Amino acid sequence: MLKTMVYGVCGAVVVGAVLFGVYAWHPSIDEVSPVAEHNFTPEMVAKGKMLAAAGYCDTCHTPPGGAPYGGNYEMHTQFGSIYSSNITPDEETGIGRWSKAAFIRAMRSGVSRDGSHLFPAFPYEHFNKMTDEDITAIYAYIMTSVAPVKQVKKDNGIPFPLNIRWLQAGWKLLFADTQQFAYNPDKSKQFNRGAYLAEGIAHCGACHTPRNALGAEQYEKMYQGAAIDGWIAPSLTATSTSPIPWREQDFYEYLTTGNAPFHSSAAGPMAPVMHKGLTQLPDEDIHAISAYLADFNNNEASASAATHDVVQTALAAQHTQAPPRIDEGARLYATACQSCHYNSDQVVKGRPLLAISSSTNLDQPTNLINVVLDGIHNDQGIAGVVMPGFRDALSDEDISAIAAYLRQSAGKKPWPNLQQQVVDIRAQPRFAH
Ligand code: HEC
Ligand code: HEC
Ligand code: HEC
Repeated sequence: MLKTMVYGVCGAVVVGAVLFGVYAWHPSIDEVSPVAEHNFTPEMVAKGKMLAAAGYCDTCHTPPGGAPYGGNYEMHTQFGSIYSSNITPDEETGIGRWSKAAFIRAMRSGVSRDGSHLFPAFPYEHFNKMTDEDITAIYAYIMTSVAPVKQVKKDNGIPFPLNIRWLQAGWKLLFADTQQFAYNPDKSKQFNRGAYLAEGIAHCGACHTPRNALGAEQYEKMYQGAAIDGWIAPSLTATSTSPIPWREQDFYEYLTTGNAPFHSSAAGPMAPVMHKGLTQLPDEDIHAISAYLADFNNNEASASAATHDVVQTALAAQHTQAPPRIDEGARLYATACQSCHYNSDQVVKGRPLLAISSSTNLDQPTNLINVVLDGIHNDQGIAGVVMPGFRDALSDEDISAIAAYLRQSAGKKPWPNLQQQVVDIRAQPRFAH
């Protein structure tokens, strides 16, 4: 009896292993002569260029100062560093001999041409939501318009055994979203267009959706906020800690100008998403993404009234806070910040009212500290508008005093271990792009 059970269990393990092997194994797809498939129309190439921008291929596949699409951009993950691949049409070190089929398979299922599994730092789960036609357009753009670069991909700094590529097959089996994009007939055409773009090429969830311990997006918490590259990508849903709810028009303004006056500016990893990516899409596409996000907030009606009240209270508080109280944070704020961050009877774009801004109201001080340390450059936030960085001008103690003061002015409970967080964030490598 016991023997039969043991055989049974062993049998099941063997069958399981064989099935897993079949699932995990992908054939290599033959290399093609680089000119074989290059009969692309100019319209297709132009569309591919736009989609590649909206998918920020450039941001992840180009290290600071490196050749476009040449790879070796270092991504810091919780498991170690991952380097992006060379996706220029170089025939030896890039994807110059990849067929269209090999490219589509990589974009859909994270399998390289030679059959090896790719890590999900490459957001293939999102690219899988795209149509074949759109993926082919990106292929057309890369093959015809990106300059070939000879550069070998660095080995990822992922420790053994996590670095074993076929183990990724197990990860995919457990976590990967393999569903293709499904049109939702209960929603408008505009919503569906927004969903197609945001969930697919623009992969907003790759940063804004929290991940589990093994790095998989938790779809039941879609867009509810997550830490990424030393920043917080805030919740884009009704769980946002912003005192003023996000409306469709706020999203639209943020995504087209880099700033929503009642909320925040796009700095850190969000700056290239907005400035290099979304600005390349037609206006109606940004409206579609905004309408789609507004649907996660579901508060158009109440938002306008709430906005008025919260803004009036915050504006009035500025008057009672100046002249500064004896508090050190208030004194430092008055000397270092208030000349720019001051609004009289209404919030003016380019003069953020920090008591209502996202970075003051998030559960973590991360974004506020990042912005105070390094400022907001010309190509971040509102184009051409600059906020200076205070890395060299303010000590850790000063920054934590200002942050504590702002947090209090927002009426939120104090951030724990604030000064230590300033020390830690100052020591981090600066986000480059
Ligand atoms: C968030 C960062 C990120 C973005 C955005 C991104 N990639 Fe990648 N990509 C990577 C990383 C990292 C790898 C290597 C993964 C590995 O080592 O397993 C990769 C690998 C690839 C590969 C496989 C290459 C090979 O030799 O196996 C292709 C093809 C690719 N990316 C195309 C694209 C395209 C096209 C876009 C834009 C639509 C894009 N990627 C956007 C990070 C990214
Ligand atoms: C590479 C990571 C990344 C991607 C991809 C990304 N975001 Fe962000 N996003 C962030 C970060 C980080 C912030 C915080 C930036 C700041 O405060 O300066 C942010 C902020 C935002 C905000 C402001 C939220 C607030 O409460 O202040 C909105 C709105 C937003 N993102 C929308 C989007 C949309 C829409 C997409 C997809 C089209 C997207 N993001 C893709 C990282 C990302
Ligand atoms: C010279 C004017 C100036 C000074 C001084 C200044 N700021 Fe700013 N700040 C700005 C501008 C302008 C923006 C918006 C930039 C953009 O969108 O491009 C901004 C944006 C911010 C943001 C982003 C708000 C959000 O949630 O996205 C924070 C946080 C911030 N400032 C904090 C401070 C603090 C704290 C100080 C003082 C230590 C300070 N600033 C000093 C001009 C200034």
